[in-house]
Amino acid sequence: MYNFINVSEKVYRLGVNDRTTNLFESMWPLPNGVAYNSYLINDEKTALLDTVRIGFEFDFIQKVEQGLQGKELDYLIINHMELDHAGEIKSVINRYPNIKIIGNKKTFSILTAYFGVTKNLVEIQDGEILKLGHHELKFVFTPFVHWPESMMTYDITESILFSADAFGMFGTLDGGIFDDEIDFDYYMEDARRYYANIVGKWSAMVQKAFQKLAGVKISTICPLHGPIWRNDPMKIISLYDKWSKYEAEDNRSVVIMYASMYGNTTAVADYVARCISEQGIKNIRVYDVSKTNISYLLSEIWRCKGVILGSCAYNGGMHPAMENLTRELEHMGVKNKVLGLFGTYSWNGGGVRTLNEFAKNINWEMVSASVDMHGMPNLEKLRPIKDLAIAMANNLKKL
Ligand code: FEO
Repeated sequence: MYNFINVSEKVYRLGVNDRTTNLFESMWPLPNGVAYNSYLINDEKTALLDTVRIGFEFDFIQKVEQGLQGKELDYLIINHMELDHAGEIKSVINRYPNIKIIGNKKTFSILTAYFGVTKNLVEIQDGEILKLGHHELKFVFTPFVHWPESMMTYDITESILFSADAFGMFGTLDGGIFDDEIDFDYYMEDARRYYANIVGKWSAMVQKAFQKLAGVKISTICPLHGPIWRNDPMKIISLYDKWSKYEAEDNRSVVIMYASMYGNTTAVADYVARCISEQGIKNIRVYDVSKTNISYLLSEIWRCKGVILGSCAYNGGMHPAMENLTRELEHMGVKNKVLGLFGTYSWNGGGVRTLNEFAKNINWEMVSASVDMHGMPNLEKLRPIKDLAIAMANNLKKL
């Protein structure tokens, strides 16, 4: 027997916590786990909104049955087909074989490819309305937030937005389910890291979704991951708005990321950090890209305005760990940062040269010319590094 989690009188949250998966999408570490949310509306007609990741069948179907309180399940609404939410669709169809499945054209293309489902499909159009009784649902297509078929379902009756992956985050829901029941500070890093790595590449489409939802009253946000926002939905809306515009959380912030084999580049990274601090900038973080998982690095770059990258030379180019980071930044299309570059080399160099190629491709504003250093740092060789630090600090102070 489960406690009902009522979002409102007839709307329930049916969800599960995943504390077992190590890597989300086989890439992104989950030290705090992740929650998969599903929702049930038990009205004159009944509707399940999305399912959960495969592997939770027993737990999930029990929750659906309990929420239905003896009724049949009339509709399955699929807002998103990624398998962390679509994983138990087949279990739902097996248990409720007459269920009508609601989605858009792209939803059904993926649904059929995954599960071979071709019956009882009800294709809806953008803006179409489904009446369940007390609740009236409007479907809002939000393509590429973050898959092509992604859509949201808006409950006109109670101003509830079932937002799919948007406004979600990593982290299990440990007792607290609603925003007023949790300490959001605990989730903040996981929220930004989720945005940067899962949704961030599609930031322009997030902004399009915001334009589409402009003027719509939203009392509650029910995302597929993380807490339900019933007290202060504007808090997560504002964060998503900021992140999707690539705005830093603090304009006077700088992150220094470096790759070093034997400590020379590390020493330069620490020196540049100290020099920036001497200019009065307090929000400075330094990371070794060979040690810190790239998902945290991307999240930190999203958080900060200033980015300084440093690499030793490695086989005529930059270090492979830095190459991995710069490739991912280009792939994600991150914008609106100011950049400084430095490196060290022992023979022919190449680290800074290839970092400059990255700078050209990503088109961030360079605060000064890059600095390449031959051999171990000393005070004389570090002079241009101090100039780079001052240029970065002055640039941030203007904002
Ligand atoms: Fe949470 Fe795109 O799946």
